[in-house]
Amino acid sequence: MKNVCILEHPLVQHKMAHLRKSDTGAKEFRELAKELASLLTYEATRDLPLAPAQIETPMGPADVQVLAGKKLAVVPILRAGLGMVDGVLRLVPAAKVGHIGLYRDPATLRPVDYYCKLPQDIAERTVFILDPMLATGGSAVEAARVVKAAGCKSLRFLCLVAAPEGIQALQAAHPDVPIFAASLDAGLNDHGYILPGLGDAGDRLFGTL
Ligand code: PRP
Ligand code: URA
Repeated sequence: MKNVCILEHPLVQHKMAHLRKSDTGAKEFRELAKELASLLTYEATRDLPLAPAQIETPMGPADVQVLAGKKLAVVPILRAGLGMVDGVLRLVPAAKVGHIGLYRDPATLRPVDYYCKLPQDIAERTVFILDPMLATGGSAVEAARVVKAAGCKSLRFLCLVAAPEGIQALQAAHPDVPIFAASLDAGLNDHGYILPGLGDAGDRLFGTL
């Protein structure tokens, strides 16, 4: 699949196995989501541009490479995207953080907007939209629309579990947005939940089951 990166690293698969288990409690679920978000960030930043620089080490001058492209911003989709923020910031601590509030209408499965606060300079930044679950894709498509409407021209979508339906929907609406996922699952059930998935990501993160 073009523009889609499914992480196949053994650490990712092992952590995903524990994340999915129904007897994994909120504390461990949060820790795993954070670690997986860091691993996704490692992959999603692989092509960031570098520029040469010269620094002084205790042994003398050295030619090095430093990040040179656009600054980053992360935008979690509330609620469940919050569980990925710290894992991303651990690797890119200077990133600004915006928030988009969306929930899925249980009857129509369509996203309903309820909050949006984005960095003022978002047009000059590369944005990582964060949400653990890419199910029908409705929430991701809407979040990308909102971020683009604010002026952003460079964005990526990071999730833990992706369904083929969600990937197809996001690519159809926003073919310029690369997708990074820790797992590609089989599909959706009649209620729009990912199978085998991990259940309701927000409820598992926040203990609201
Ligand atoms: C979940 C999840 C995504 C969305 C994915 O959020 O965190 O945002 O569903 O589904 P989609 O791809 O079909 O749009 P939910 O609406 O349950 O809200 P919550 O995070 O507040 O629990
Ligand atoms: N939202 C979730 O939290 N889980 C799913 O499987 C689908 C949407």
